[in-house]
Amino acid sequence: MSSPRPVLQVQSTTPTHRYPNLSAPSMLERTLSSRRVNSYGEGDAEAGGGADESKTKKHQHIFFRLTTRASNYLARIAGSGSFYLPCIVVSLFLFFCLSFLFTSRGFVCISSSYRPVSSTAFFDFDGIDADFGALGVPCCRSKHGKTVEWTSKDLLKGLEEFVPIYETRPIKNNMYGMGFDHSFGLWFIAHWLKPNLMIESGAFKGHSTWVLRQAMPDTPIISLSPRHPEKYLKKGPAYVDGNCTYFAGKDFVDFGSVDWPKVLKEHGILDLSRVLIFFDDHQNELKRVEQALKAGFHHLVFEDNYDTGTGDHYSLRQICDQSYIRGGGHSCFIDSDEARIRSRRKKLWEKAVDIEELCGPDEAWWGVRGYMRDNFNHSNKPISYAQHFQNSRYVESILDVYWELPPVAGPSLTHQTRYDPARTPPPIVEDGRYGLFQRLGLANLDKSVFNGYTQMVYLKISEQ
Ligand SMILES: C[S@@+](CC[C@H](N)C(=O)[O-])C[C@H]1O[C@@H](n2cnc3c(N)ncnc32)[C@H](O)[C@@H]1O
Repeated sequence: MSSPRPVLQVQSTTPTHRYPNLSAPSMLERTLSSRRVNSYGEGDAEAGGGADESKTKKHQHIFFRLTTRASNYLARIAGSGSFYLPCIVVSLFLFFCLSFLFTSRGFVCISSSYRPVSSTAFFDFDGIDADFGALGVPCCRSKHGKTVEWTSKDLLKGLEEFVPIYETRPIKNNMYGMGFDHSFGLWFIAHWLKPNLMIESGAFKGHSTWVLRQAMPDTPIISLSPRHPEKYLKKGPAYVDGNCTYFAGKDFVDFGSVDWPKVLKEHGILDLSRVLIFFDDHQNELKRVEQALKAGFHHLVFEDNYDTGTGDHYSLRQICDQSYIRGGGHSCFIDSDEARIRSRRKKLWEKAVDIEELCGPDEAWWGVRGYMRDNFNHSNKPISYAQHFQNSRYVESILDVYWELPPVAGPSLTHQTRYDPARTPPPIVEDGRYGLFQRLGLANLDKSVFNGYTQMVYLKISEQ
């Protein structure tokens, strides 16, 4: 990697027109792999970018074996005499019932990592049960079952590289902006894809602009934000980039209203498949996906991919949290396992939600409270469940890749209590691996930087 050249606190907004060599493989080639890998980027999993299925399969094998053995045993003691025929019938009946029960999990699409009573639950120093994925980790299905080509090994290697970079960040306290997990995710994705242009919507004090700059030292950035980051310089640390065109302050234009053909032409960008868009503007993500598709962009990152029942805007994860998706959907029955687990976890994790919050009165909310939330919760549109369902089908129809960043480390290491691991893929550095956590330099970071994980997601989209 070429070493990053941060341009700290530069006041220039003049666009420049320097573009790296185009002969590198396309972003598409770098992102997609013909290998089928799971949503964490490793192993052979079923198409669709889902989680590792092996645990479900193992369960099925065990229960199949048990029921088969039971029926064989009953049949054996029954012998061949007609006197024992009822025993054989009963055992066969039991066999079919149990087999159906355990194979039908696939139909209801409970996450493969769903374990109502987990044997691998991790209790950290406070006795908090991490139990990653126990309540299902929904994901959006991609059209052709493709996913990213990077693996968990690449993520670990990336972490090693990124921690020392993060330590040099100009904005040490980025409250209301990205913390460590998402800073790493954005840096990793940009660094891997090597775009020719990076566009960000929602800059705040400029931390994410700085992250993009670290990933791609010479690539131009376009930043859209109602308040110019330079305004924050008066009060404290902020970052203004020298190779960034700002549509900010009095020049602010919303992403959906930018004349993209004109702006891209001005930047000399002909190949839209080498442009990376980063959204951290708390707008309805369905709206942003439609706008990005209309403009011809393919590679999108959403910082706040809020879980169902949380957040101030309609997110991809919420859209795809449908019962036909592995790990998706949820139960509104107050007596269900899910209800019990959720109410217990609500006491432990700040952002965990219970069945009441998810379902609302008469089960009318189905997780998003009946609204497509938008613009920091300021302009919400009511939607019906049928529309919500249609939205998920639409997203699937244009989706080539959906990949959620895992948290960097387990809660026993980061001491975070904000997001609920039961709705999250397993972390890059798993609970209990303090040696690795320390070796990577993560132990030296202030614990507060680990408190902002909201399932950052990378999407690759294209017309149907
Ligand atoms: C959570 S902050 C962004 C944090 C920043 N990315 C970081 O990492 O520090 C959200 C930002 O979005 C901006 N914003 C609000 N509406 C917007 C819009 N329509 N388009 C772009 N940005 C918007 C806000 O002013 C705020 O600066």
